[in-house]
Amino acid sequence: MSDAPALLAEAARLAEAAFAHWLPPESEAPARLHRAMRYSMLAGGKRLRPALVLACCRAAGGSDAACAPALVAVECFHTYTLIHDDLPAMDDDDLRRGRPTCHKAFDEATAILAGDALQALAFEAAAALGAEAVRVLARAGGSRGVVGGQQDDLDAEGRTVDGSAEDRALLERIHRGKTAALITASCELGAIAAGATASQRALLAAYGESIGLAFQVADDVLDATASAAVLGKTPGKDAAQGKLTYVSVYGLEAARCEARALLDRALMSTAQLGARGEVLAALARFVVERDR
Ligand code: IPE
Ligand code: IPE
Ligand code: MG
Ligand code: MG
Ligand code: MG
Repeated sequence: MSDAPALLAEAARLAEAAFAHWLPPESEAPARLHRAMRYSMLAGGKRLRPALVLACCRAAGGSDAACAPALVAVECFHTYTLIHDDLPAMDDDDLRRGRPTCHKAFDEATAILAGDALQALAFEAAAALGAEAVRVLARAGGSRGVVGGQQDDLDAEGRTVDGSAEDRALLERIHRGKTAALITASCELGAIAAGATASQRALLAAYGESIGLAFQVADDVLDATASAAVLGKTPGKDAAQGKLTYVSVYGLEAARCEARALLDRALMSTAQLGARGEVLAALARFVVERDR
């Protein structure tokens, strides 16, 4: 199967079945916290990171059952970062996955705690795959990964941008940290779940890094071009908040070119996997061509 929508739908189904096992029920105390966690986790979303786990696990010869905890780990971690990213102290957004953000639907303190709890749950799930999986997620998620990228993103707000070498280096650090780190880790967790060889894992990680960078370039383009109805979040916020984005540094056309170049780089990795790389190639195309 080399059809990205079908793979995304399959990953969503498997991930949501696994969430039923891992996410506490709404009836369990503290009910408000558990409702907030489920509200954000079950709001849809593309489920790209679970799809990457699943496709990389299969590409390395693993079974779908083997990667179930990794599906949960990456999506819980990702959803935690979205809840916190939307807080008033960060991007201050009202709309996410087509509905009010967690802090709007509940309150700020509950949103902070729901994010914290989802992060903890992500590590609990990763632990089912062993210490190496926990290490990969921790490194991707911390100050040298997602959290560091988010700090850089906030620090760069309002910066005067002239396309200098510093602008370009900082932009790349932001994209690697806030987005590519977790996407790369998703690919590595799929590989780990499959018991991949070191060379298989390195190939899948290289693929993940290319599409992780492409994903954020596309996110920056969509913020500048898409509608809220399709995107499920409020567009135009990057320019309004003076964010350092691929579009603000290089312009829209160059951003689209860069996304294609990163796609080509990802396709060089998938070509080495032969037929097993086909669905990964389709996912890479989806990352660049998506409209939401
Ligand atoms: C949004 O991620 C945050 C970024 C890293 C740009 P997604 O676009 O994957 O969000 P969902 O999961 O589909 O809602
Ligand atoms: C957020 O980047 C990345 C993380 C949540 C780690 P953005 O701030 O660009 O994501 P959106 O556009 O709000 O989804
Ligand atoms: Mg942000
Ligand atoms: Mg944001
Ligand atoms: Mg964005």
